Amino acid sequence: FEFDEISEGEIATILAKYPPERKASGALPLLYVAQNQMKRQTGSAWVPTVAMDAVAERLEVAPIRIYEVATFYFMFNTKPIGKYHLQVCTTTSCWLRGSDDVLSACKKAAGIHNVGETSEDGLFTLSEVECLGACSNAPILQVDNDFFEDLDGPRTEALIEALKRGEYPEPGPTNGRHGAEPEGGRR
Ligand code: FES
Repeated sequence: FEFDEISEGEIATILAKYPPERKASGALPLLYVAQNQMKRQTGSAWVPTVAMDAVAERLEVAPIRIYEVATFYFMFNTKPIGKYHLQVCTTTSCWLRGSDDVLSACKKAAGIHNVGETSEDGLFTLSEVECLGACSNAPILQVDNDFFEDLDGPRTEALIEALKRGEYPEPGPTNGRHGAEPEGGRR
């Protein structure tokens, strides 16, 4: 695994933030750089072991230090995933606001039977995640790094159908509501 030009630029920016003797602190951001490069190059956002080794080498730490970080945080995929990573929040606020319907709609529209699986066409991987910190616009579906909010079953299906057509709808509230704003908009 070799970092490409885009990644090298990002790595230079990241490492400039840390004193040279503390560059191990760049483990998380460099793993993101590696995962994003895999997405660019293969269409699947994941971090193979050879990429973890490259991160370890760049940070001058033992590979195990990077393996333990990459396998601890759920946002790093250690196996190939679909082109779009559907992450349904099923924690309390989202559950009370209908995350069961969002999950069912994801399965139906993406053609996935169980959480953790990838659709046969390789387009979607479905995960269930804990609170994404966007409870005011529950229920939430995170697609890759974007939040789609205020969902229900039909709107979730419409979103996934759009992704299948190669479109990428605007992230954010899907019903026009902006939960954090007071009546009449911002003052
Ligand atoms: Fe889903 Fe907080 S419970 S975003």
